[in-house]
Amino acid sequence: MSAIVAWCEKFIQKLCTLLEKVRGDLCKTLVIAGLLLFIIYIFHYNQPSDGQSTNYFNKFLFERHSKKIYTTTNISHVVFGIAGSANTWRVKRPYIDTWWRPNITRGLLWLERTPGAENLPWPSSSPPFRISEDIEKFKEYNRHGMRNAIRMARVILETFREMNKDVRWYVMTDDDTILFVDNLVELLGKYDHNKYYYIGENSECVASNYDYSFQMAFGGAGYALSFPLAKALVKHLDHCLMRYPTLYGSDHIVQSCIADLGVTLTHEQGFHQIDLHGDISGKLSAHPPVPLLSLHHLDYVEPIFPSMNRYEALNHLMEAATVDSSRPLQQSICYNKQSNWTFSISWGYSAQIYEKIHPPSFLERPLQTFYPWKGTGRPQYMFHPRPMSRDPCEAPHFFFFDLIEKAGGSEIISNYVRRSPRMLPACSQSGNHTADMIMRIRVFSPATRFNWIGRRECCDYIRVINKNVTEVKIRECMKDEIVA
Ligand SMILES: *[C@@H]1O[C@H](CO)[C@@H](O)[C@H](O)[C@H]1NC(C)=O
Ligand SMILES: *[C@@H]1O[C@H](CO)[C@@H](O)[C@H](O)[C@H]1NC(C)=O
Ligand SMILES: *[C@@H]1O[C@H](CO)[C@@H](O)[C@H](O)[C@H]1NC(C)=O
Ligand SMILES: *[C@@H]1O[C@H](CO)[C@@H](O)[C@H](O)[C@H]1NC(C)=O
Ligand SMILES: *[C@@H]1O[C@H](CO)[C@@H](O)[C@H](O)[C@H]1NC(C)=O
Repeated sequence: MSAIVAWCEKFIQKLCTLLEKVRGDLCKTLVIAGLLLFIIYIFHYNQPSDGQSTNYFNKFLFERHSKKIYTTTNISHVVFGIAGSANTWRVKRPYIDTWWRPNITRGLLWLERTPGAENLPWPSSSPPFRISEDIEKFKEYNRHGMRNAIRMARVILETFREMNKDVRWYVMTDDDTILFVDNLVELLGKYDHNKYYYIGENSECVASNYDYSFQMAFGGAGYALSFPLAKALVKHLDHCLMRYPTLYGSDHIVQSCIADLGVTLTHEQGFHQIDLHGDISGKLSAHPPVPLLSLHHLDYVEPIFPSMNRYEALNHLMEAATVDSSRPLQQSICYNKQSNWTFSISWGYSAQIYEKIHPPSFLERPLQTFYPWKGTGRPQYMFHPRPMSRDPCEAPHFFFFDLIEKAGGSEIISNYVRRSPRMLPACSQSGNHTADMIMRIRVFSPATRFNWIGRRECCDYIRVINKNVTEVKIRECMKDEIVA
């Protein structure tokens, strides 16, 4: 925009010089310049618009590229295709119920057969189900490691056939995928749905990516297809099924077919396949500053909160997500220089205190509380984990999300309580300032949605109260502010 203004100024200046040369009449020059500005103004504001001025420039840009104006993407433009199974629906349903919004989210759950009487009548709080088409005709092409690969790959096709009006994106998931719908819709809104997009993320585990493809969006993490890509894929899918009879799973068949269309994966780090085992708190405590989009495989890892079962633990995270859907797992880092403490907050999930000043480049590496899904080769992970240490300067005090104390007004206060005593002496390198007495961390955060601009939020240490509670405040970083 500033370029346009600068151009106008230049143009008017040139015009003025010209006119002054001809007539030397300043008054006339001003009148003409004013007229020019008026015309530019009218030209701009007569463009059709949905009235949302905040997105005006975005649309202006899109318009120049696609010669078409459209409104902001909202939840009604997204269709979810969920690959499920009647056999396991009873145990998977609680996962889908955490994110499905009856009569708001559009989509279908695909089952291999009619659900048993124990699941009927089908609740209106769950996504409507459909029975997948018979795949007998693909019998000789069914040499996949995953039993339901062909049926699952065809979920996009069968969903598209039934739901294709006013759709911008198809989001494909498994029945044990947990989505963060608001973040997903906001993220998709940043992409032009008129283009070909295949958006997802591969596995955390190098061996999984090596076995399938580094360019594959893992199906359990969920992935999005723009409408034109979905349409093209659907047209060719059945031929792709015959072309790729031996790939392991449905997501690899779909990826191969998408590659045949000349489209490659757009990586978004907020999709989480969770190809990990054990305690994944280290990973969830070091999320990059991008929207949290999905979690998967929670059946295969320990409950994400200590002393809760899997469903309770997931619902606990969702309590935080209900209050602020933009911040769950967003990492903020702050320091108390008086006692040489470092705080690492994973909003709505966990908090850690280190008794030494550690830089963000250290803290953004996940603590290796988990082990890999498969494979023993090195490197094991697509990221650089930090080994668990018993060094008092490196081992943090662990706190986990307890409750949202205050949700009204301009601030949200989330609380994190100590998991257990650390049982280590104080870090002597930085002055023996023990944090053993701290039992609770209160985190103040803005009651406005986090604006993802590719940067973490900043955080200030406030104080210790009653000797056992400490407070920090999350805020937008200042321009060029450095955290260290
Ligand atoms: C989504 O946007 C469309 C316009 O593209 C509008 O008609 C519809 O009401 C919006 N839906 C929601 C749920 O905001
Ligand atoms: C969804 O809408 C249908 C029909 O409009 C209604 O019967 C049903 O109760 C609604 N379901 C929920 C969970 O709101
Ligand atoms: C903090 O630690 C540094 C060394 O890491 C030390 O020089 C300094 O004295 C410590 N500050 C306090 C207040 O203990
Ligand atoms: C910290 O404590 C250790 C052991 O108790 C002691 O040797 C060391 O001198 C202390 N350091 C400081 C800076 O107080
Ligand atoms: C924290 O301190 C307060 C007041 O000093 C006390 O009442 C409370 O029991 C303490 N809590 C814990 C968990 O130690």
